[in-house]
Amino acid sequence: MTDSISIPPVEHRILILDYGSQFTQLITRRIREERVYSEIHPPTRSLDWIREWAPSGIILSGGPQSVYGLDEDTPTADPGLLRLGIPVLGICYGMQLITHLEGGSVEGGKREYGRAGITVTDTEGIFTGFDGSATTQVWMSHGDHVATMPEGYHAIARTDDVPVAAFRADDRPIFGVQFHPEVAHTLRGEEIISNFLFDVCGCEPTWTAGSFIDLEVDRIREQVGDATAVCGLSGGVDSSVAAALVQRAIGERLTCIFVDTGLLRAGEREQVEATFRRHMGMRLEVVDAADLFLDRLSGVADPEQKRKIIGNTFIDIFEEAAERIGGDAKFLVQGTLYPDVIESLSVQGPSATIKTHHNVGGLKEEMKFELVEPLRELFKDEVRRVGRELGLPEEMVGRHPFPGPGLAIRILGSVERPALDILRRADSIYLEEIRAAGLYDEIWQAFAVLLPVQSVGVMGDARTYENVCALRAVTSRDGMTADWYPFPPDVLARMSTRIINEVNGINRVTYDISSKPPATIEWE
Ligand code: XMP
Repeated sequence: MTDSISIPPVEHRILILDYGSQFTQLITRRIREERVYSEIHPPTRSLDWIREWAPSGIILSGGPQSVYGLDEDTPTADPGLLRLGIPVLGICYGMQLITHLEGGSVEGGKREYGRAGITVTDTEGIFTGFDGSATTQVWMSHGDHVATMPEGYHAIARTDDVPVAAFRADDRPIFGVQFHPEVAHTLRGEEIISNFLFDVCGCEPTWTAGSFIDLEVDRIREQVGDATAVCGLSGGVDSSVAAALVQRAIGERLTCIFVDTGLLRAGEREQVEATFRRHMGMRLEVVDAADLFLDRLSGVADPEQKRKIIGNTFIDIFEEAAERIGGDAKFLVQGTLYPDVIESLSVQGPSATIKTHHNVGGLKEEMKFELVEPLRELFKDEVRRVGRELGLPEEMVGRHPFPGPGLAIRILGSVERPALDILRRADSIYLEEIRAAGLYDEIWQAFAVLLPVQSVGVMGDARTYENVCALRAVTSRDGMTADWYPFPPDVLARMSTRIINEVNGINRVTYDISSKPPATIEWE
């Protein structure tokens, strides 16, 4: 990652330095729920960069490493970070790092995982409003602990096992907590975070969907100037909201392009076109590129390669369309979200990349567009709030997410037309039954997956040897974690019977009961 700086135009912002904890995204969410803006950055940000970004407070996240026996690969921080005059909260590894930087010591050997009770011994600062005589439940997940506090610090909470469960500097707003206030199992975690934001850092709760729209419209106007832009519209909530925002900023100078990749679901092209023309008064071009996508994908089985081919092909099409439309658009608007950015460009380096989401990592290295990604810092539920605030209809805003690479990542292995036809029919029956059961809005995302596996069945009196179809339905708040949806058995039975009876080529249906993590939502 480069050290380039983009300063969000909000008065109060919190900087989170990510040391690799699985809970880092949760910290951002909790802060934004308090209506304060925050961003996650790698711990390698320089002091100059941080000064210029000018956060109202800094949070050092947890992480899997140990601060003792530091080697070059252990992420650390410049000790000057604690002398910038900006409040700091260190969580778990973040607290141990403060200890280390300030001359205290950290030891291993006292493992605490799960619930613990803390007794607060200083009810000011992050523990304002706590009662020092009662214990409160927190969530611990650490192997190391603070053995000797740095000079000039004092403990502000303890557990039965750990004498320093939280500390603070005597004369500066520097705090550390050994537990995780961002997880729901820390019962008063929200209060601790809100105390840090409002009492310690002096933030104000002003970050709302409405204020986001105003700020973002200004930012887009500044970025695009007098130029024109094209927007890759998928019909999903992200690109629709991105298009509506950019239209508000630059009006007629935006043209939306909807690409029929040949990887869409049954009736999708017609449906998106109709909704869009009805509700959004902007220019829409529909490009039929099914042959191009399917030719390039033919015979390719590797999921990452499929994603890259699709990302590149999208750009080829946008470039061609931008020239044809006239105005020679310089900007490409995309509905990239925060989770796409975090998962594609992990702070832990390429080895931790989970999958290349096409609107981030799968783009060509050299493309003639500059990207406009107005939702790049938002989570999905925040995007939905922005969409509603912009007046988009519920049929757009409440739609299940559908990935850019479409059905290509739901046909495992190489993607050919006959498989696409089979999957389309199964998927449409599945969604029809979900709607008929009145469950669509309870589910984050539901889809069918075609497996490259054949199994033996019997239909009439004849043996069949056909494909297996897996059904997936999950609940989620933001796509970062997900649980499988517990359908009533009679609904599952109806779906399975209809798919096997009505779709030639499928003789077995299974239901995917994996959560994310350890699985992901899509199969590829
Ligand atoms: P995973 O499979 O990573 O999916 O758990 C999380 C969410 O992201 C969607 N997804 C994508 N969306 N381009 C997109 O626009 C992509 O390449 C892509 N891959 C996954 C997925 O459908 C789910 O909602």
